[in-house]
Order: sequence, then C-alpha cells, then structure tokens
Amino acid sequence: MKTPVEGFSKLSKAEKIDWIAQNCTEDPKTSKQLLERYWNMDPQVQKLHDEFIENTLSNYYLPFAVAPNFLIDGEIYAIPMAIEESSVVAAASKAAKFWLDRGGFKTEILGTEKVGQVHFIYKGDPKKLTRFFETLKPELLQSVSTITQNMEKRGGGINHIELRDLSAKIEGYHQLHCTFETLDAMGANFINSCLEQFAQTLKEKAKLHTDFSEEEKNIEVVMSILSNYVPHCLVKAEVSCLIAQLETKDMPAEEFAQKFLRAVNIAKVEPYRAVTHNKGIMNGIDAVVLATGNDFRAVEAGVHAYAAKEGRYSSLTHAKIEDGVFKFWIEVPLALGTVGGLTTLHPLVKLALEILQKPSAKELMRIVAVAGLAQNFAAVRSLVTTGIQKGHMKMHLLNMLNQMGASENEKKQLVEYFKNHTVTNASVKEALEKIKK
Ligand code: MEV
Repeated sequence: MKTPVEGFSKLSKAEKIDWIAQNCTEDPKTSKQLLERYWNMDPQVQKLHDEFIENTLSNYYLPFAVAPNFLIDGEIYAIPMAIEESSVVAAASKAAKFWLDRGGFKTEILGTEKVGQVHFIYKGDPKKLTRFFETLKPELLQSVSTITQNMEKRGGGINHIELRDLSAKIEGYHQLHCTFETLDAMGANFINSCLEQFAQTLKEKAKLHTDFSEEEKNIEVVMSILSNYVPHCLVKAEVSCLIAQLETKDMPAEEFAQKFLRAVNIAKVEPYRAVTHNKGIMNGIDAVVLATGNDFRAVEAGVHAYAAKEGRYSSLTHAKIEDGVFKFWIEVPLALGTVGGLTTLHPLVKLALEILQKPSAKELMRIVAVAGLAQNFAAVRSLVTTGIQKGHMKMHLLNMLNQMGASENEKKQLVEYFKNHTVTNASVKEALEKIKK
C-alpha cells in the first residue's frame, strides 16, 4: 500500500508532477511528458487553467464542436458543445436541420427564481419564533444591503424570505427559505454570501430578543447554502408540425408520430426507461452547459430532482398529437449564468458565448433547453425507426479504428466501406485485418 503524502498542495507544479509520475505511474518519464504535452503553449493561458483548481498538473481535453442550423424563436444559432460521446453533435445537428424546415424551435421562460436556505435548530415556542421572524425580516434585508446593492441596481436581488417549520421531521429543524433573482449571473456566490450573512444576523438578533427564553435565544445554525433544486427557474422549448410533415425515408409519417408518442409515454410511466430517455436529453444539455462554462453538476442535480417532482422519476419531455398536429416539448429547470464564474476567464467559454451572440442567461436557458429537446428527438427518432446502433456505431467507427491502430488511409477506406455495412467490433476488426493483409 502507498503511504500518504504530506503537504502535496504546497509542492510546485513540477514537484507535483514528479511525485505523481514516480509514485503512481509505471513509466514516470512518459507520464511526465504526456502531462506536459497537454499544457497550453501560451504560458498565460496555462496559468489561468492552473489556477482554476488546486493541484493542477495538466489540462483534460474534450472535443469542442458546434451543431449548426438551430432555428430558435426566429433566430439561427450554431450551438457550441463540449462532449466526448461520438454521436451527440451529429444527432443534434440532424435534429436542428429537421426542425429548421418545419418552423424551428419555440421557447418560453416560465420563471427565473433561484433558491437558498439557512437551516437552523430552534427548540422553543413556535409562536414566539414567528413573531421574532416578522421583526427580523427587515433586519435581514438591511444586513445584506452592501451585498445586494449592485444586483438591485440591475433589477435583481432578494425576492422573498420565508420561515419554514420542519420540526415535525427533525426536532427543532427550521429554515429561512429564500428566493432570489440573479439576472445574468448563476448567482451561487451572491446567494451564499447573502445566506451566510442572514445566518449571522439571525443568531445575533435571537440572542438579543427579550421575548425568548435563554434556550430559545440559542439558535443553532446548521448550514447556509443555495439549493440546486430550482423548479421555478424554468424554461419550455417546443417543436410542432403537421403529422404529414414527419414523413421520412425510414417510416410513414402517421406511424412515426404514433410510435414516437408511445416511446415518450413509456418514458413517462417507466422509470428504467425514463432515466435513459433523460440521459439522452442531458447529452445535449450538459454539452452546451459545459461549453458555456456553467456548472453541469448543479444542472444535472436540479434537472433529475425536477424529473421526480411528482414522486416518481419520469420523462422531462412530452408529446401529443392533436387535430393532425404533432407537438413535442420539454420543461426543464436551468440555473445558468452568462456573466461571472468561468465566463470571462476561460478563453473557449468566452468564444462559445460569442458564437451564441453573447446571450443573456434567459437566452442561454432557451438555447440549452432546445439542445436537450433536439437531442431527445434525435434519439427517440432513431430508437423507433432504425434503432440506435446504426447511427451510433457509424459515429463510433473512428474511435474503434483509432483503438485498433488503423492508419489514415485504412480509416478512409473503412469509413467508405462501412457506409453500406453494419458496424460491430468484430466486423470492423475483420475488415481492418483484411485491408492490412
Ligand atoms: C445514449 O447516450 C443516449 C440514448 O440512450 C438516449 C435514449 O435512449 O433515449 C440513445
């Protein structure tokens, strides 16, 4: 067993690389060279990346791509995506093209409310706490005025502070449940700073509150933190067309519409399918969230909680057929930012936002929801027509050939060959061996 390392974070970058290469890899020299090869050639840019997190050794590349031809609310976008999965960008582009000819995507912002909570323990008379809270509320707002003044000038700030009694669940457990408008910022730092100040004010004012007994004065703050569950920071994206317009070479329009609808309805009632269905949606959403420097873990957590809001995990998308019209839509909570965080630091994030014409947070919510809907359309379309493997394996072919050590010329020949043949691991291996011979 390895022994723990002391003071690793205090070592220089070169020392860290040496230590890791020596202690954790089979070929230290090659490992070191590999880590260094992934450094940016501009030392300033590399320094930026080094300082994003602690103990940076190198950079971890993901492909940065665009899916063009997205018609969203009358504007055309090329959507930047950062993702490793072979078929995602191709599928998004295909769905964008499909809907470009059928009226495009329409979106609606249903809310922009963010949430944060101060969790605390108060063991005492609930009526006294309620009375205390009424006098406390203006003091809470006053206590954060220096934090909120800029946000307020721009039209944002604290929307609401509510006292919630959850003592039936955990003895003495209460919350200050707070809602915020953070405009173009994702708002995590703003919200957490406000909450920590609320917590301090709550404790201090309780100590001085003469109506409280000594025990009641002793409020214990457990934690103050934003919530990534944002069911009212919500966006809807939709496509619709006449059923007849769904005709493709793969299937007659009416049959396709019915099969598609059934597939979506299965994801609504069947959690095993819903998880995979939503995973396909997140292929699109995460890729754009990541490319635009947003926190995809926060988005993931909030989206999946939303998918389970009725008490059972279900589809994020919905479909219906009415009077000969096919409608397909998504409703998804997205707390995103287009200012702050990585948005002004990471050069590729800046470029991604520029490619999107420097969107506001609301515009980015619309674009991201569309990417999720498009991805789901492409996946379900393949699933109910050709099956997923045909397109997926075609896109995966280059990865397989790279893994098998194919030369550029062999790759070219085999990509051509597999236009008319089924891609499987065995068939690719066999075809490559044949060429090599
Ligand atoms: C693969 O990354 C995503 C899919 O499984 C989504 C789906 O099944 O809907 C194809």
